[in-house]
Amino acid sequence: MLGTVSFGRSLIIEDELPSTNAKAKELAREGGIHGQVIIARTQCSGRGRMQREWQSPKGGLWMSIIIRPNLSLANASKLTLAASVAVVDALKELYRLPVGIKWPNDLIYNGHKIAGILGEVVGEWNRVQTLILGIGINANFPRENLGSSIAAATLQEILGHEVDLNKLTAAILLHLEKQVSALEADMFEELCINWTARAVGIGEEVKVIRGEEVFRGIFRGISQEGELLLETDHGEVRFSAGEVRLRSK
Ligand code: BTN
Repeated sequence: MLGTVSFGRSLIIEDELPSTNAKAKELAREGGIHGQVIIARTQCSGRGRMQREWQSPKGGLWMSIIIRPNLSLANASKLTLAASVAVVDALKELYRLPVGIKWPNDLIYNGHKIAGILGEVVGEWNRVQTLILGIGINANFPRENLGSSIAAATLQEILGHEVDLNKLTAAILLHLEKQVSALEADMFEELCINWTARAVGIGEEVKVIRGEEVFRGIFRGISQEGELLLETDHGEVRFSAGEVRLRSK
């Protein structure tokens, strides 16, 4: 049962797609509405951040949402932060699972990645004002189905049972709709506080990798723009999510 106003009210479910984000972009260009959701049981060409491949076996939750928010370009990146907060809150509410966020939006349980979020702008943001939020959750399958990804875990393994993907979808969409409305009401500081309260690694020594460059320092949290704040020996350096990877020391 969906408790949302608009998110998921229009819903497409396919057995297999190359990528729900790619399909959502296509639908958005054809006029897909705010809150439209696309789900695939499997993806044969799922994509992660930085053009990485995203393994999407049957049993996972692979979904994308078309967002046409009332937000400026400067605030667009905050939507992916809001999405990670929404997924963490849904997992806590349904399974009491203490999941943390590794900047910018990897969801981590006990050091293992269980979900990821990919935000992609459609066309020119200023004209089209559309973002696709792709959410991938390793749910009902054993981690071996992910191939070589030893750093990953699945909900089924953690909880010892399968989860109801419909309930999980509904809970995520409800939390996400709430988060997006809060952003539209300019509650940026609150989002920053909520994200930080769920983050892992703040105060720890980390490596930030940008292309061939490696920056070392203490992870001090995020700016109100969602940039990573790194305290280095030469002062504070800020990184935006599109350009870097974060590693523990
Ligand atoms: C990441 O952690 O690198 C982001 C992973 C995002 C995966 C989801 S699954 C649904 C949607 N479709 C895609 O091709 N990618 C996103």
